[in-house]
Amino acid sequence: MGSTGVKKVALAYSGGLDTSVMIPWLREHYECEVVAVVADVGQREDFDAIQAKAFATGAIACRVLDLKDSFARECAFPALQAGAIYEGRYLLGTALARPVIAAAQVAVAREFECDALAHGCTGKGNDQVRFELTYQALAPDLKVIAPWREWEITSREEAFTYAQSRDIPVPGSPTKLYSIDRNLWHTSFEGGVLEDPALPAPDDLHDLTVNLKEADDEPEDVVISFNRGRPVAINGTALEPAPLISSLNQIAGAHAVGRVDLVENRLVGMKSRGVYETPAGCVLLAALADLEALTLDRDTVAFKRYVSSRYAELVYQGLWYSPLREALDAFMVSVHETTTGEVTVRLYKGMAQPVARTSPHSLYREDLATFDEDAVYDQADAGGFIRLWGLPPSIAARTKAREAEVQNAIDSDGAQIVNAGPVPGLPSDLTSPQRPSTIGQEKV
Ligand code: ARG
Repeated sequence: MGSTGVKKVALAYSGGLDTSVMIPWLREHYECEVVAVVADVGQREDFDAIQAKAFATGAIACRVLDLKDSFARECAFPALQAGAIYEGRYLLGTALARPVIAAAQVAVAREFECDALAHGCTGKGNDQVRFELTYQALAPDLKVIAPWREWEITSREEAFTYAQSRDIPVPGSPTKLYSIDRNLWHTSFEGGVLEDPALPAPDDLHDLTVNLKEADDEPEDVVISFNRGRPVAINGTALEPAPLISSLNQIAGAHAVGRVDLVENRLVGMKSRGVYETPAGCVLLAALADLEALTLDRDTVAFKRYVSSRYAELVYQGLWYSPLREALDAFMVSVHETTTGEVTVRLYKGMAQPVARTSPHSLYREDLATFDEDAVYDQADAGGFIRLWGLPPSIAARTKAREAEVQNAIDSDGAQIVNAGPVPGLPSDLTSPQRPSTIGQEKV
């Protein structure tokens, strides 16, 4: 143990340039042992090679954890049920994966009796916040090391040079184009040429989706089955959460569905430009919202929409482990008691349009909505309803007209009228001869 007091640190390790440089740096700087924690959240990489690299660069142990199922089941699907979309556009792929990765890292740290946790996030992004808030929630006793906020390295180029000086194999060149984050739910790209938001992203920048001009020329209908707001089958085939997402990523990605190019507001204050691909997420969100329109009442839909954006902010801002997120999840479970059914989504050239929906809990009543003659809805009831519904704006309009009249009188003869008197017109309107006599005798 060196003078820093740290004996053993669990590092969230990806095998990329930054965290590869961190293993020797932590050993040299803290004179401590390093346990590498590799999280498989669906990024489709060669984990044997990553593990070998961790050992080659000096880790005393390396755990590769398959977190795909818990990521899908415990993070992605709850966010889907909540309709969580940050700033109306970002489906939160990175933000949702961080808590599950950090939680697994804490478990490994306990197993190896580590006294510190380290991550490879820079000091300018959201991810440092997400990792460290999870650490604070689950392991407040462990020291946190964020090398990017401590070391002398200030750029990817310098990290590259550092790696070369310590014989660490690095993929690509120092001018690596983008910062990429991949998991089951999405692939995101930031940095490089994307830093100029005035320029469209290059054509070769994509992972889970094809370019629009390479998208299938025929539309494809995909049927999503939901059980209490959770997707359970695609085209009639039951699937567990993680394989369901992968399979839908392939289907929708072939139609260029799910790509978003945007400027977002980071928690740490600056705006940043990113390109995201979330094919399955995009289809599932559209399908679930469509099913909700059938099964939820008007007030619940409106209230849910209102809390959805709050839920998205909590996730984006690193507050996954917060009482409010947990309470909102409980609300969502309750809301989705009846969100069971099937939605057909048509995929075509970047679009995912729900075109048909059914549910055993549907609140839709064709006998009520029909333009044809019906026996359940008395159209005469609508007249009285509209008069009462319109009472507040009607009073406001008449009052305004009366005030204008008084003002005109003052302006023209200079006289001061103290009491403008009652608002004219209202009593007779309220005692219209057509007031319905059927109130309380509902036929529906
Ligand atoms: N801006 C996104 C977020 O804060 C993605 C961050 C990670 N993406 C990346 N390419 N490094 O969630």
